[in-house]
Amino acid sequence: MTDVSSKGPQPGDERPVLTNRQGHPVHDNQNQRTVGARGPATLENYQFLEKISHFDRERIPERVVHARGVTAFGYFEASGYLGEEPISRYTRAVPFSEPGKRTDVAVRFSTVIGGRDSSESARDPRGFAVKFYTERGNWDLVGNDLAVFFIRDAIKFPDVIHALKPDPVTFRQEPNRILDFMSQTPECMHMLVNLFSPRGIPSDYRHMQGFGVNTYKWVNQRGETHLVKYHWMPRQGVRSMTEEDAAVMQGRDLGHATKDLQNAIDRGDFPEWDLLVQIMTDDEHPELDFDPLDDTKVWPEDRFPALPVGRMVLNRNVDNFFAENEQISFGTGVLIDGLDFSDDKMLVGRTFSYSDTQRYRVGPNYLQLPVNQAKNAAVHTNQRDGLMTYHVDGQGENPHVNYEPSITGGLREAEYPTQDEQGPMISGRVTRTRIPRTNDYKQAGQRYLLMEQWERDDLVRNFTTLLAQCDRPIQDRMVWHLLMVEDDLGLRVGAGLGIGPEDVLHLEPLASQDLTDEDRERLSKLG
Ligand code: HEM
Repeated sequence: MTDVSSKGPQPGDERPVLTNRQGHPVHDNQNQRTVGARGPATLENYQFLEKISHFDRERIPERVVHARGVTAFGYFEASGYLGEEPISRYTRAVPFSEPGKRTDVAVRFSTVIGGRDSSESARDPRGFAVKFYTERGNWDLVGNDLAVFFIRDAIKFPDVIHALKPDPVTFRQEPNRILDFMSQTPECMHMLVNLFSPRGIPSDYRHMQGFGVNTYKWVNQRGETHLVKYHWMPRQGVRSMTEEDAAVMQGRDLGHATKDLQNAIDRGDFPEWDLLVQIMTDDEHPELDFDPLDDTKVWPEDRFPALPVGRMVLNRNVDNFFAENEQISFGTGVLIDGLDFSDDKMLVGRTFSYSDTQRYRVGPNYLQLPVNQAKNAAVHTNQRDGLMTYHVDGQGENPHVNYEPSITGGLREAEYPTQDEQGPMISGRVTRTRIPRTNDYKQAGQRYLLMEQWERDDLVRNFTTLLAQCDRPIQDRMVWHLLMVEDDLGLRVGAGLGIGPEDVLHLEPLASQDLTDEDRERLSKLG
């Protein structure tokens, strides 16, 4: 019998009828089946059990980092050139090949440390991940809004993230924990000088740069390789917030950057970015004072200019946030022909981590989901079964053959596209050794000197405010490092904390791997 609260079909109502997942129409979505109006519920009520038990499983684990984010779709349009030269001299990758060629993209912007409902005006790097759905398969360029990173070896990633995430006891983000780690890790200084400057809080996602950060390779038709770095430059301009702007924004709206992006796309004001590439020959470059595979360094633009290769337009929002933003999965291992890895020690570690977490976070068949499928390429694998298998991809004429090789059908190997790569020969002893050219402070100091006065003031204020909440030994260490970065920065932050150079000079061994005679003399004069 139908309860009065369930109105049933109304004349002229053409909307689709509610069903359960088995396709059974739902006649009453208001009342469980019970014994009598007040009575106990019955256990055989499939409709209710399906509904509630699916609800119980609605959440998947949020990303361990970059949990809060927003996805939008659009296209990349190639210029066909690297600056003035035909790009084919350097790479055979299809999205770049012809002038005007368009490739579908999905882009997910994100914050890093907060959970999936956290504030979008936090001081935090921002993720800038782009999936190119090319006809040669998917390519993911998983970058950030800052050009460098905290660390240069993937083995330290869980530590840096643990230090930045909330305290395991208080569940509060604690400056003391963050700077305890950073002050023992001099390679962080370049990133910190960026992160605590006004660039550390982008005003929103449309006015934000993107950087591939890690060093990749390009491969051309002849198999010749070059080292490359990627940069996205917003045509909307770059804007940031100060700490005060961010506090006001945070009081008004935790998700202002998502709203800004979605509203702009809805009103047809499509955001655009230029893609620029820096390139150098594929070798160790002993003439440089840094290692080109070190992601705590930028490549000086006067020697390695950033050359345009195309532009990207975002013109569509997601239809469903969960399916297209929570389940979208990027990874640095997702490269296509003409693109390759370098031996950057971060990149190699990242490449394992992404698909590993996604097999856990989304499931072993995460690549079958529409947003992750290589939708513009032919996909034929012998992968079978597993949790949530959605479809069996084409295995040729003979469906019995899900192995290779076979003389009775199935899939065949592809031809090699060209001759072998001509990258450098590498040999060496298996070891655990840091790279020789660490040079942890120089570029951080150059960055400081490039800032306008108000940006330096803001950086000093932000460092001092944060360090004021730390224990004295951590303050001492950070002042020492900041003196190594640039006298003015170390002296000003030190003054704000009541710590002079003479108080910290005894800490010299902290970064001895980098100390030159010039550094020693400079520091001793300051003291
Ligand atoms: C997300 C690992 C460094 C950019 C993630 C995720 C993991 C991870 C496990 C979550 C992925 C998911 O659940 O789908 C690592 C490791 C790193 C590292 C182990 C260092 C060894 C970096 C660096 C960048 C970066 C240097 C920037 C160049 C991103 C972005 C996302 C992300 C943008 C979010 C992707 C999305 O929107 O779904 N990372 N990461 N990561 N990472 Fe990293």
